[in-house]
Order: sequence, then structure tokens, then C-alpha cells
Amino acid sequence: MTEEKPLLRILSCGSVDDGKSTLIGRMLYDLGVLYEDQLAFLEKERTADGRPDFSGLLDGLLAEREQAITIDVAYRSFRTPARRYIVADAPGHEQYTRNMVTGASKADAALLLIDATRAKDGLLPQTVRHSIVCAMLGVPHIIVAVNKMDLAGYSEDVFKAIEAEYLDRIKNLSFRSVSCIPVSALGGDNICFSSANMPWYQGLAVLDILEALDTAPMPQTAFCMPVQGVSRQGTNRWLMGTVLSGTVRVGDKVCLSPSGRTGTIERLADMSGDLATAQTEQAVNIKLAEDVDVGRGEVLFSPDYPLEEADQIAAKIIWLNDPHLALGRSYFFRLGTAEAWATVTELSYKIDLNTLAETPSKELRPNDVGRIKLSLDRKLPMMPYAKSRDLGGFLLIDRISGSTLGAGMVDYVLHRSHSVFPHAFELSKEAFAAQKSQKPCVVWLTGLSASGKSTVANLTAKLLYAKGFHVYTLDGDNLRSGLNRDLGFTEADRVENIRRASEVAKLMADAGLVVLASFISPYRTDRMAIRERFPPGEFFEIFVDTPLEICESRDSKGLYAKARAGVLPHFTGISAPFEQPENPDLHMDGMRAPELLAQELVEFITKEIQSA
Ligand code: ADX
Repeated sequence: MTEEKPLLRILSCGSVDDGKSTLIGRMLYDLGVLYEDQLAFLEKERTADGRPDFSGLLDGLLAEREQAITIDVAYRSFRTPARRYIVADAPGHEQYTRNMVTGASKADAALLLIDATRAKDGLLPQTVRHSIVCAMLGVPHIIVAVNKMDLAGYSEDVFKAIEAEYLDRIKNLSFRSVSCIPVSALGGDNICFSSANMPWYQGLAVLDILEALDTAPMPQTAFCMPVQGVSRQGTNRWLMGTVLSGTVRVGDKVCLSPSGRTGTIERLADMSGDLATAQTEQAVNIKLAEDVDVGRGEVLFSPDYPLEEADQIAAKIIWLNDPHLALGRSYFFRLGTAEAWATVTELSYKIDLNTLAETPSKELRPNDVGRIKLSLDRKLPMMPYAKSRDLGGFLLIDRISGSTLGAGMVDYVLHRSHSVFPHAFELSKEAFAAQKSQKPCVVWLTGLSASGKSTVANLTAKLLYAKGFHVYTLDGDNLRSGLNRDLGFTEADRVENIRRASEVAKLMADAGLVVLASFISPYRTDRMAIRERFPPGEFFEIFVDTPLEICESRDSKGLYAKARAGVLPHFTGISAPFEQPENPDLHMDGMRAPELLAQELVEFITKEIQSA
């Protein structure tokens, strides 16, 4: 195997005109790694004052664009005698946090540009924000290039003032190293070569600092490898992945999580054949002596690797997209190769990216950063982000659109993750159902206020009761006077209202009952989350479809009038959304008489739940 040069991933950040592209272009030029046509381009393209235009050069160099989280990050790669480099360039506009996340979560170093001419009278706010985001995402090294020193008269005083202010503003952030360098990207001062224009600067040029950076991986030495996939060859099952840390040898004992199994390494192989060992960053296929039935999402690790298994975590989250984060809502959760459903159980604070101050908040919007607690529907192997960016970084994904909404970092595993053990009671759901000679289920009526949900549920319950069914009704207005009396009608409160209602409905179904639940439940994603809590055939979504004008003309509680008058905020259909079901199990025409609707619903239910 040819020895690959070590790879250094850099994130370049700064504001639009700070000179990021020029700096990288100049570095490649001085390194002599440009191609003929690029050199020809530089001959032709000149800046206003007649010097080569390095920034224009790079626009043609965009190698690939990261699509993973639909964010525009341009990557460029190059080599020096010592290293391979990949530079991720995050566009510096207002969407600063969002654009930085992808590049920063993998970067070994950030190259932060400051325009000396603009920072003379104080740093721009984004300089500090970029640094905070880098610290949060665990970028170990910061290289601050104070650019355009030529336009600042190569003044030592200007540089020293900027350096002092910067170091003061970031003194509470933890980086492994911070270097400040006075440069002129355009003129090549202190980029690859020390500048004769600034003899007062005794430090290294940017490239020398990059070449010398200590990129020792995280301080884990024990073996760990997330399984990316499984390939079967005959009766052999190969676990495929890339070693995250440590070295693994044939004959080693390994643990597996979340399956809780153990195994012995029987064979290691890569494209070129069998191997005796595999080490950090090496892609490898592993065959265990035991035929353990595990797949993608499993983590293999040595017994001394400090991996944790958790379903309750505290984390920091950077919110990236609409819709905003809502407490109680559940999202698709991906950590490494493992996946789960996650519910936001607490939104503790929003973090101000200019000051690091933490303030209580009920929601997070795009580019906001906050502290949250999450509850997963299963235990997954993980680590605090501070110990492993790979096993501590996760994404929250919208269940409907599939788009990435948040990028998270595990702070710590909650104790309750290790101290809650569901007790298995011997009288099962099946036993309760058999006793009642019925198949339990949850019939969930969704629709506008005054659409007729409760009226229909009431009549349906009476008809089912008369037929000998064991039935119970749950209702928005009723639950809101007890269990949910602390909740109002903001999006976050409704999400929590529906979450609690569906938990109660689930318990009732476990007790063998037929449950009729009437809640406006206006959000599609939350109704989908309820369905996923039940086995197939046990949850039915019924859309009581009554036009808004009709609901408004009924207005038995006088609420529509108040909402129109502006005294009742967040009113569904008027000043808050109702997302219609796309594929309800039963679509009822709310204009028909309630007695007919109840009859229709009884027929639907009895057909679905013939007694077991
Ligand atoms: S949900 O949106 O969270 O599912 P839920 O079904 O529990 O609502 O409660 C709806 C009932 O609360 C309505 O029938 C109405 O009587 C009352 N209500 C009071 N304020 C509002 C409001 N702003 N929007 C909708 N319903 C409201």
C-alpha cells in the first residue's frame, strides 16, 4: 500500500470581501501547484491596480459541492510535499452559522480572515461569531490572517491592536492553538514566504503554520469502528467501515453496540486482500468468528473504549432550516451510521453567538444555537462531542421533507438514560384485549375547531358501547382542563398537547380499549409521529373535513368571533395553520349530519377490528 500523506482539513471563514479566495489562490500560486491554464488566466486577469487576480482564478477551481445538508460549501484540494489539504470555503453572508456547520464539523483548522482596514476601529461581529461556532464544532486550531496589511501601511500598531482585541474576545473559547499573522494575500506577504515588508513580525507564514500543525487525532487510542454496511459472501458476513480510532488485530476481542454482543476478529481485509491489522482512518472489512446478526448503525469497539449507550441526552444544537425547532416534536435522528426517532423533551437555553450569553427560549429559528434535551426511541452508542466528533455529532431531520433541520453535539448522557428500566408486567396487552374480546385501537379524529370531531366521537362511542365494545373518549378541551392545563396554543404547546394525548391513548390501547381521540392536531408531522408509535392496524387517522366557513358559522363557543376580533391569538384556521391530512384512513364530509358520520365511523371501526 502506498503511504498516503496526512490530510489536513481547513475551513476558511471571514466576511465577503476579506480576501479568502485571494489568500488560497496566492498560496497555490506560490506553491507552484497551479496548472498551465490557470497561470495563463493569471497573466490575463488583473486587478484594478494591475496585479494578478487570484480570487477570480479560484472561481474556476470549485471541485465539488457538499449536498449532504443542502448547504453551499465549496471544496478545493491541493498537495504540498508534506501534506494533502482540503479547504472548505463557507460563503460568509448572513447565513453564517448554517454555512459553516458542514465544513467546521470536520475541520482540523480554521483559517479566519480579518480585513485590517475594516477592523482598525474594532472587530466585526462575525469574526467573533465565526470563532464561537468553530469552538462549538470542535475545530482545534485557529489561524487568524489579518489581511490587507499593505493597505494598512504594514503597520505593526494596527496588527497588534487587532490581535490583542481578538485574543481578548475569544479568551473563553477553548482551542488547541491560536495564531495571528499579518498578511497581504494579494502581495503574498507571509502567505508562503516571510514578508520583507513586515520585518517586525517574527512568526511563521500561513503555510508554515499549516504544515506544522499538530493534527494528532482525538486522544482515543482504543479501537472503535462504526459499521457502514454489511456484505455477504457465501456464508461469510463482512462488516464494512472505517476505523475511527486505535488499531485492530486479528484475534482481538471486540464489543458491539447497541446489540450488546461480543465477538472475536477472525479476518481483516481491504481491496487488496487479507490484513493482519487495521488502523485509524483505514477502510476495512471485518469478519467475526461468531455469526453475529448486526448491520449498519452498529459500533464495534475494544472493551477499553469509553463508548456510552444512551437514549436520553443533553446537547447543543445549531438550527439550520425552517420549520423552527419545537419542543415535544419528534425528528429523525442520525448519529454516525445509527438512526432513531428523537423527541425534544426540553429546550433549555438559546445561546447568543455574540456574547455566549444563555437566555431561556421556547423556540429556535434558523441560525440559532441552543441547549436541548432529547429522548430517543432506542439506545444508541455515542460519546460526548468533546471526546469524539464522529460519535458525538448528530443531525435532526424532518420526517416529511427529509431535509436536515439541525446539527447537534452531544454534551452528556443523562443519568436517567441508565436508571430507567421498563418493567415487563405479566398481564399483557393481548390478555386485556382477549378479556374484552376486541382488538384495541386508537381512532384519531383531526379537524378544525367546531368541525364536529367531539360530537361524532360522542355518538360513535355510544353506538360502540351499545354493541358491547369497551371504549373511551379523549378530547382536547377535556384534557386541557386536567393533564394539559399548563398548555396553551402556540406551536410548541400544541406539539406537547398532542404528544401527551397520544401517550395516554397508547396506554389505553395497551389496556385493551378502543380509544376515540378528538384533537385539532393541526401539524402533519406530529400526526405522523403518533402513527409510528403504534403497530400497523392499530392507529387510524380520521379527517373530519368541514370547511372553515361552516365551522365559523357554527361557532358554538364564540371563539371564531373572538379570533376575528383579534382578542384570541393563534386560532386554528384564522391565525394559526391547519395542515390537512394527505392520506387519512377515513375522510369524512363534515357537512353531513353527525348521526350519519357516526354510523359511517362505526362501520369503519367494526370492519377494522373484528374481535380477535
Ligand atoms: S390542538 O391544536 O392542540 O390539537 P385541542 O384539540 O387540544 O387543540 O383543543 C382545541 C380546542 O381548544 C378548541 O376546540 C377550542 O375549543 C379551544 N381553543 C381555545 N383557543 C384555541 C385556539 N387558539 N386555537 C384552537 N382552539 C382553541
